[in-house]
Amino acid sequence: MPTSSFLLPADPKANYLAHKEEIDQAIRRVLDSGWYILGQEVAVFEQEFAQYLGVSQAVGVGSGTDALEIALRACGVGVGDAVITVSHTVVATVAAIELVGAMPVLVDIDPTTFTLDPDRLEDTIAQHQGSRIKAIIPVHLYGHPAAMPTIMEIARRHDLYVIEDCAQSHGAAIKGRKTGAWGDLAAFSFYPTKNLGALGDGGAVVTDNAELAQKLRLLREYGWQRRYISEMPGMNTRLDEIQAAVLRVKLQYLDKENAQRRELAKVYNSRLSATPLVLPEVGQDVESVYHQYVVKSAERDALKDFLKDNSVGTLIHYPVPVHRQPAYQNRVAIGRGGLQETENVVKEILSLPMYPQMRSDQAQAVADLITSWYKQKCD
Ligand SMILES: Cc1ncc(COP(=O)(O)O)c(C=O)c1O
Repeated sequence: MPTSSFLLPADPKANYLAHKEEIDQAIRRVLDSGWYILGQEVAVFEQEFAQYLGVSQAVGVGSGTDALEIALRACGVGVGDAVITVSHTVVATVAAIELVGAMPVLVDIDPTTFTLDPDRLEDTIAQHQGSRIKAIIPVHLYGHPAAMPTIMEIARRHDLYVIEDCAQSHGAAIKGRKTGAWGDLAAFSFYPTKNLGALGDGGAVVTDNAELAQKLRLLREYGWQRRYISEMPGMNTRLDEIQAAVLRVKLQYLDKENAQRRELAKVYNSRLSATPLVLPEVGQDVESVYHQYVVKSAERDALKDFLKDNSVGTLIHYPVPVHRQPAYQNRVAIGRGGLQETENVVKEILSLPMYPQMRSDQAQAVADLITSWYKQKCD
């Protein structure tokens, strides 16, 4: 590497510094206002975010996990119900299903897009007939959208809710329609490393359904329609004013930063195409936002160590699928067809450094380093 410093896999501080002046001003505005919870900043951010996605409603909440949980609650999913999702995801997707008392049913992924394989749905729904499958949660992992047109068609036929997990897909689209605008509801996380990241925890649920949105607003704050009067059992999961003000600044740069991620992906794609690595593919009519740039290699662990020794940080997203996690292995159902693709990919995946403030010469240097590693192995 030409640089002496360690290259991080993601760098939320660099993202803050890129917009420091505007963010500092926005935070100061909130501090001076004296209003810190559910005020003007959250209300305006909700409008701006809904407009960006092409939906009518957004409801700011405390985290992506909370967003999934109250989305499920708004659909009436609870004890005795089952929800289909994938095992190759952040544990939060499955934890949210358990938090509402429902049974997660985990289906396999398409190993090319790393997202829910819709061919597994019909059989899994048939297998669980009578056990009240209420919803499907497709996860747009690594910024690549799941196969939403097919998933929606199957869900409509079986009268199931679809809640998109958009924690990694802010701005991604299929046929020009953004992720978050396909399902009945969609859950976003604003964890600092996300494509749209706050400076702390945050999340949102979006929908085109005004009735569901009203329920979400009640659920996020003790079931209050009016202050101190609970119309339904709710929780406390509010996006705070400071995070909303930060997100309003960063939302203005989301498209530009997603384009920067795509440029870095192009550099990786062209420089790594001659290596034995399996590179990420983007489906037809799909716009990926490369939350992660994930390659596959049978020699993943050795390559990871080599990169680390040469000051390049990489991560494995995620090393243990949810059905193998100590907390969940006996608490989830496995969908028809098993989870073979999930089991296979976790042994091979590696996320290379990817964040909008990374320079293209840094991506070139990482790719050249990987190329040299393969050459040296052949010599
Ligand atoms: C796919 C996915 N779902 C859900 C979550 C949970 O979001 P949060 O960490 O904001 O609770 C995350 C964040 O890590 C995620 O990547």
